[in-house]
Amino acid sequence: MAEAGVPLEVLVAVSRSAPGTLARQVETQLRDAIRAGALRPGTRLPSTRGLAEQLGVSRRVTVEAYAQLGAEGYVELRQGAAPRVAATNPAGADPSPVTAAAPEPAARYDFRPSRPDVTTFPRAAWGRCLRDATRTIRTADLLYGDPCGVAEFRSAVADYLGRVRGTVATPQRVVGTGGYLQGLGLVCHAMAARGARTIALEDPCSSEEPRIAARAGLEVLRLPVDAEGARTDLLPTLAPDVVVLTPAHQHPLGVVLSPGRRRVLAQWLADSAAVLVEDDYDAEYRYDRPAVGAVQGISPERVVYAGTLSKVLAPGLRLGWLVVPGWLLDDVRTQKQLADQGSPRIEQLAFARFLEDGHLDRHLRAMRTLYRRRRDAVVAALAAEVPEAVVGGIAAGLHVTAALPSHHDERAIQAAARARGVALAVLGDYAPRAPFPPTLVLGYSRLADRAATRGVAEIAAAIRTSRR
Ligand SMILES: Cc1ncc(COP(=O)(O)O)c(C=O)c1O
Repeated sequence: MAEAGVPLEVLVAVSRSAPGTLARQVETQLRDAIRAGALRPGTRLPSTRGLAEQLGVSRRVTVEAYAQLGAEGYVELRQGAAPRVAATNPAGADPSPVTAAAPEPAARYDFRPSRPDVTTFPRAAWGRCLRDATRTIRTADLLYGDPCGVAEFRSAVADYLGRVRGTVATPQRVVGTGGYLQGLGLVCHAMAARGARTIALEDPCSSEEPRIAARAGLEVLRLPVDAEGARTDLLPTLAPDVVVLTPAHQHPLGVVLSPGRRRVLAQWLADSAAVLVEDDYDAEYRYDRPAVGAVQGISPERVVYAGTLSKVLAPGLRLGWLVVPGWLLDDVRTQKQLADQGSPRIEQLAFARFLEDGHLDRHLRAMRTLYRRRRDAVVAALAAEVPEAVVGGIAAGLHVTAALPSHHDERAIQAAARARGVALAVLGDYAPRAPFPPTLVLGYSRLADRAATRGVAEIAAAIRTSRR
């Protein structure tokens, strides 16, 4: 019969020629292992007989060692039960305790933006694709392979983007990533290694982007955003080496880059050696008309196109892509290799199958209808409950902005809403440098049925109480 409890031969070794009695040797080494955390509180230990057999000593030795450790409080010895490392032992607390990532606090009404409704994640279809990928993945693809990804993934993504976003992409230019933010980091590092010094980010933008750019050693410049989108007319003056834009749907203000600003951008890209990172983060969700095509389609040699599954399927998949100009590809491949040797290959293959079988298109069709309804519900509720709010942005994406008269305090509203069980973002979360009116950023993707109406009524109450 297998001996219960962890095998201890690797932690404990006794020798008749070593100093101290055999019992003392066992006792000291077990105590050290418990103190060092190698034997965790609650761990089941071998019986005295089992340990004696493992170590090739008499049972008297292990009885004596356990008795001493029991007396000191390191080991729990109870009649008829297996010995265990004491749940709280004199080794005390972890000398360098780690803090667990704070779980997202639950909210009655969750308006936090940038998250899809993952309750609709097509589990069955994904599961079939994953099973199929596991069955058919080539042996060679289970090794490291090209850090840019498996051939089927790169090919399926190139076809998909050409079809729905008008990108110009051969499979060889597609790089599988662990999501948009990793992709941005790879480009920043690749450009910095080529001598780039500055990067222009939209103002406002997500709070992670300046930190990712700074981590690659780039100096961050800010490009203001107005009703026509990012002020691309300022690019010749700012002269950044890299610029990051969300042309299809500015994040978080929700405006589209106007045709005039796109022309200015295309001209500047043609005239300079700079690179545009085009974050197409939710171009798939345009509700009133087809989304404008990607800028990459106009300037494929100067644009790195970046996409992600985080909005269209689930952030937990940690899968995205870049389409990289040929001249930059080797540098990005090197950065990807250094970062993680490539994204999970079975999942890439599963996604290729998911795309080819039409599951993504089907899912997006269903989600567009659902999200559009939820957006309409939030906009209608805001008109009824918070008539002073000016709803901003086009009918797209997963959130709306609601700008309030200047006497409001967005942080006070956020706190008052939180106290009423409503989670929401405010423009201050995106650290704008330019002055903006107090603005709520309200994600609607997870507000089913009447939740939007009830949630907005709570927000209206929070606005009233925060003014007192
Ligand atoms: C502007 C922007 N685009 C895209 C994303 C999605 O990132 P990821 O693909 O890494 O989940 C984020 C997430 O924070 C973001 O802020």
